[in-house]
Amino acid sequence: MELLLCVLMVVLGGLQLQASSTDRSFRIDYVNNCFLKDGARFRYISGSIHYFRVPPAYWKDRLLKMYMSGLNAVQIYVPWNYHEPQPGVYNFSGDRDLEKFLNLVAELDLLVILRPGPYICAEWEMGGLPSWLLTKPDIALRTTDSDYLQAMDRWLGVLLPKIKPHLYHNGGNIISVQVENEYGSYYACDYNYMRHLLGVFRASLGEEVVLFTTDGTSASELKCGTLQGLYATVDFGPEENVTEAFMLQRLYEPKGPLVNSEFYTGWLDYWGEAHSTKSAKKVANSLQKILEMGANVNMYMFQGGTNFGYWSGADYKDGYKPITTSYDYDAPLSEAGDPTDKLYIIRSVISKFQELPAGPMPPPTPKFAYGYVSVPQRVALLDVLAILSPSLPFYSSYPITFEALKQAHGFMLYRTLLPQEIVESALLSASRNGVHDLAYVLLNGEYQGTLERDRVNGINISGQLGDTLDLVVESMGRINFGANDSDFKGLIHNITLGTSILSDWIIYPLDIDTAVAHAWPPTAQSSSGHTGPAFYTGTFTTPGISEDSYLKLPGWTKGQVWINGFNLGRFWPVRGPQQTLYVPGSFLSGSAINTVVVLELQEAPDNPKVLFVSRPLLNVTYNYTHKDRK
Ligand SMILES: *[C@@H]1O[C@H](CO)[C@@H](O)[C@H](O)[C@H]1NC(C)=O
Ligand SMILES: *[C@@H]1O[C@H](CO)[C@@H](O)[C@H](O)[C@H]1NC(C)=O
Ligand SMILES: *[C@@H]1O[C@H](CO)[C@@H](O)[C@H](O)[C@H]1NC(C)=O
Ligand SMILES: *[C@@H]1O[C@H](CO)[C@@H](O)[C@H](O)[C@H]1NC(C)=O
Ligand SMILES: *[C@@H]1O[C@H](CO)[C@@H](O)[C@H](O)[C@H]1NC(C)=O
Ligand SMILES: *[C@@H]1O[C@H](CO)[C@@H](O)[C@H](O)[C@H]1NC(C)=O
Ligand SMILES: *[C@@H]1O[C@H](CO)[C@@H](O)[C@H](O)[C@H]1NC(C)=O
Repeated sequence: MELLLCVLMVVLGGLQLQASSTDRSFRIDYVNNCFLKDGARFRYISGSIHYFRVPPAYWKDRLLKMYMSGLNAVQIYVPWNYHEPQPGVYNFSGDRDLEKFLNLVAELDLLVILRPGPYICAEWEMGGLPSWLLTKPDIALRTTDSDYLQAMDRWLGVLLPKIKPHLYHNGGNIISVQVENEYGSYYACDYNYMRHLLGVFRASLGEEVVLFTTDGTSASELKCGTLQGLYATVDFGPEENVTEAFMLQRLYEPKGPLVNSEFYTGWLDYWGEAHSTKSAKKVANSLQKILEMGANVNMYMFQGGTNFGYWSGADYKDGYKPITTSYDYDAPLSEAGDPTDKLYIIRSVISKFQELPAGPMPPPTPKFAYGYVSVPQRVALLDVLAILSPSLPFYSSYPITFEALKQAHGFMLYRTLLPQEIVESALLSASRNGVHDLAYVLLNGEYQGTLERDRVNGINISGQLGDTLDLVVESMGRINFGANDSDFKGLIHNITLGTSILSDWIIYPLDIDTAVAHAWPPTAQSSSGHTGPAFYTGTFTTPGISEDSYLKLPGWTKGQVWINGFNLGRFWPVRGPQQTLYVPGSFLSGSAINTVVVLELQEAPDNPKVLFVSRPLLNVTYNYTHKDRK
């Protein structure tokens, strides 16, 4: 009986599939140069949103605002490193619930352009690739390197079957799927790698789905990024000549729809550089030209969001350039998901080409200035090593990297003893610029200064034979774009003191987040002082209120901050341009006591406190040579 039922269901399932695939289709029309949805001419006006940069409590709010802006699609990336934190260990739950997000998008009647990588750039840690790939130090990422392919195939073997039922012709809302990402900007230009990916995507998703590539509008990028069998699209911002940009797409796709897969509404920020903005008027004018040409467009970003925790990436251009915690991007929806003037201008352009949905745009989310909160309880990082690094430390003659010790991000402590007395002073320095990316130096627990990749290669210290030398080394995010994304972290090369190479290191991987979320505040005695890596803890209540806010760190220097165990990200007000961290209301409790933990790495203010304000401040940059050489 059971067997019969099963057979019957298979038959019915087959019939259903048959029916749906004739009803629902999404194709390229090479005669009329457009997409065809269910056989009819179709053009998408889409916006990028990253579920991994928006708290799940706000997914629906942001998507509704995108729908009310007149968009008919959203474009999303899938970060491999977010979903496979360790080899073979997958996480699709909580704020990583990709299918829940896809279902919400469908409920709001929006289509999806999916970009599952496996490399995504996105100004995301290592461009979305897992750092554990680097446990094989000479791995050639994004090539036919066999270890890379093996890991990638295993990941795609988990991801793509989850995607398949969400494809448009299977009854879902994914209309197209991008393969790789701006591959033409990578050094390798390995067509066999792209061919391999094409094979994996086809084998898993079938022949019907539209697969495409995206590259910048230069001949060299398009040459290495495109492949027969993948529809070639381009990306460009409002400063480019729209006609000329699409002429480059036409070199590779003489027929078919014009597509700008990343039309830049704004731009990213680097620590220590000016805040990026793009004029709403220029964005609107260029968007109008794109739409007048009948082209399809995705606005990157429509909602930028936040690089919570340690997820921001970095670029490498005349030196290492880490990206800020805020990914506001000067996008039409702000970091906190609020409609901006830019959104309304864009919406009015869209209204000239397709009907806007009826009804009002949802208002900005309420914000609350909770005011000052004292964080008086200080405990030096070195005093809670046993909590932060519960396993046994590693011993090594010479420094080893984060990757070798399977530390994905955050901090590791490198400890050794001074091999000789230094009477005057001697230069402690990183050979070959080998500090990735910052090292906070302590001698017998006293803060001495900071080494910084590409900026501060050495500091003078003096001390006695046998003094304890500690380097708390911080990753500021792995490089996400360009020629080489094998960006190892920690002490990459030796540390020298005067003329001798330091040896006999004790290395402590630090798991600060687990400690802060589960074992805080530590019972260790509070310590005095205000320099060097230390935690400052305080509590506050917000009777009945749990609205969004922004956290300012007046007088603080550099660090990381948690609220109720949620890692809000990095702060660095002495560099800027970001001066406030976004605090989603969903991280706060209106009924219980809220806990703030600040990890200050360099110098805390006297009478340490933080300040909750109701407006963001993202555009105040300081010249580092003046302000933060402490
Ligand atoms: C998955 O990730 C969430 C955070 O996004 C975390 O709370 C949860 O513990 C993770 N699950 C597993 C099994 O690691
Ligand atoms: C854009 O390029 C086209 C073709 O080269 C040219 O005719 C047009 O004048 C350019 N537009 C602008 C605004 O420069
Ligand atoms: C270290 O001290 C030496 C000798 O006093 C001095 O020349 C040098 O500039 C100092 N280096 C740094 C990085 O402070
Ligand atoms: C990438 O960087 C790593 C580490 O700095 C280096 O070993 C490797 O040779 C580089 N690869 C390329 C292709 O430049
Ligand atoms: C450190 O120096 C030692 C001795 O010269 C050398 O064997 C070792 O490879 C170096 N290690 C690194 C990480 O550069
Ligand atoms: C910074 O941004 C605010 C709005 O948040 C704006 O009023 C101000 O003019 C900006 N300042 C600079 C220097 O651009
Ligand atoms: C920072 O100050 C130095 C020294 O005055 C100057 O040369 C440099 O151009 C300044 N940089 C910025 C970004 O203002």
